[in-house]
Amino acid sequence: MSEFEKMLDEKAAEAEEIIRSFLPAEEGYQKKVIEAMNYSVMAGGKRIRPVLMLEMFKIFSGEPKELIAPMAAAIEMIHTYSLVHDDLPAMDNDEYRRGRKTTHVVYGPGMATLAGDGLLNYAYETALKVFLCKCELTAFDGDISDRRAKALEILTRKAGIYGMVGGQCADIEAEGKASATSEELIFIHENKTAAMLESSMMIGALLAGADNKAVSDIEQAARKIGVAFQIQDDVLDVTGDEAELGKPIGSDEKNEKTTYVTLHGLEASRKEVEKFSNEAVEILSKYSGSEEFLIPLVQWMISRKK
Ligand code: IPE
Ligand code: IPE
Ligand code: MG
Ligand code: MG
Ligand code: MG
Repeated sequence: MSEFEKMLDEKAAEAEEIIRSFLPAEEGYQKKVIEAMNYSVMAGGKRIRPVLMLEMFKIFSGEPKELIAPMAAAIEMIHTYSLVHDDLPAMDNDEYRRGRKTTHVVYGPGMATLAGDGLLNYAYETALKVFLCKCELTAFDGDISDRRAKALEILTRKAGIYGMVGGQCADIEAEGKASATSEELIFIHENKTAAMLESSMMIGALLAGADNKAVSDIEQAARKIGVAFQIQDDVLDVTGDEAELGKPIGSDEKNEKTTYVTLHGLEASRKEVEKFSNEAVEILSKYSGSEEFLIPLVQWMISRKK
């Protein structure tokens, strides 16, 4: 394991501790759905979104920690809900995720649907806890001046119809469609995947006190990282190793998905991952502190195998 991978493991473990501290207790007549929620969240996963959020927060000041913790937990809950629903029989119909049986296989599709709904709502209940932090924040020079309200606006918008849900909609509509264009595909990748990385990184920077220009720079960089991340996901769906990935390969072919690989081929897809990542690094290198972990993380993602 490289020095970088050790650092990544430590950061993911730190994120996981934060996530765990916000999970609901498995009790009451709704116990089953809470079990299904916690099963999905605690199955593992790379924790890339909270790790990116915490790192951006650190780069722009890193204080106070109570401010970022609920947001870091919330982003992983929203991401996990998106995976639970993405795996449902009505969507990608996959049986394996994060090295375990998917939530619908273990708890049934009805309970898995509710676990996703539960996670999304609980994410917002959790994110609202930023208001419990007794700290003074400078105003944000944007459309919403309160930094916490702005962070919540970004979190909710980028997970919804103008973000992840919008991208998943276009993804389903492009199934089996031989005529899907690269413009449609870029919309899918920017929305189903990049939007959640944008919110992770923007919220980290914003709550740490970054100005309007920096938050907008970070959004551009995160979009490129997100698109690269999804292209690599498409590549791994063809070339990956199931045991290492923790999810099935060949899911896209089974569902007749339009992906970077189907439109452009493997070689061109790999080159695009590199191109988008390098463009992101160029933006991020303006910000001091990014060379310690953030930039190596983006570079690691280019050749990731899981
Ligand atoms: C999977 O996300 C879905 C995509 C957007 C490609 P990750 O690859 O981050 O999955 P986990 O969280 O590590 O399981
Ligand atoms: C889904 O993309 C991205 C989400 C918003 C969940 P995929 O369907 O390619 O993700 P995997 O490969 O199942 O993780
Ligand atoms: Mg999908
Ligand atoms: Mg899928
Ligand atoms: Mg995939």
